[in-house]
Amino acid sequence: MPANVINPSDHLNAESLAELDSWVSKYPAERKMSAVMAGLRIAQDQNGGWISDDLIEAVAVYLDMEPIAAYEVATFYSMYERDPVGKHKLSICTNISCMLRGSDEVVSHLEKRLGIKLGETTDDGNFTLKEVECLGACVNAPMMQIGRQYHENLTPELLDSILDNLESGAGE
Ligand code: FES
Repeated sequence: MPANVINPSDHLNAESLAELDSWVSKYPAERKMSAVMAGLRIAQDQNGGWISDDLIEAVAVYLDMEPIAAYEVATFYSMYERDPVGKHKLSICTNISCMLRGSDEVVSHLEKRLGIKLGETTDDGNFTLKEVECLGACVNAPMMQIGRQYHENLTPELLDSILDNLESGAGE
């Protein structure tokens, strides 16, 4: 490996590499790069919810692909974060179905309760508010995603209960 090329094991821990190997095994040997989305997600989880340049490159090198191709994936999809985020990232859908069913109220309720705007993180680092495109749960709009969990048919009362749980540590 040339000196200027990142060594994946310097950046991805053993647990991440093992999980990535399990994804690589699902594809033909010459198509390792098919695991890039899983690889970026694994690297992001390892890093507290965001993915650095070095981690993107480590995933790319591990999957025998050009780093620029992995950057393209990491910057295209809203599930990847390129900057640090709060412990809990609240991804609120504001697309048409959610908008028609009250996503504006969801956003304003969360902004008021947390004292931050969309795209911001609370000073204590606990919460980030993020606006996202349709997450495919339109039938139960309005909705948001926290971690890997969808929260649907949101109302102010339900939002307060979700946040109360997270603040108490019960919803983790
Ligand atoms: S429009 Fe919000 S989940 Fe589809």
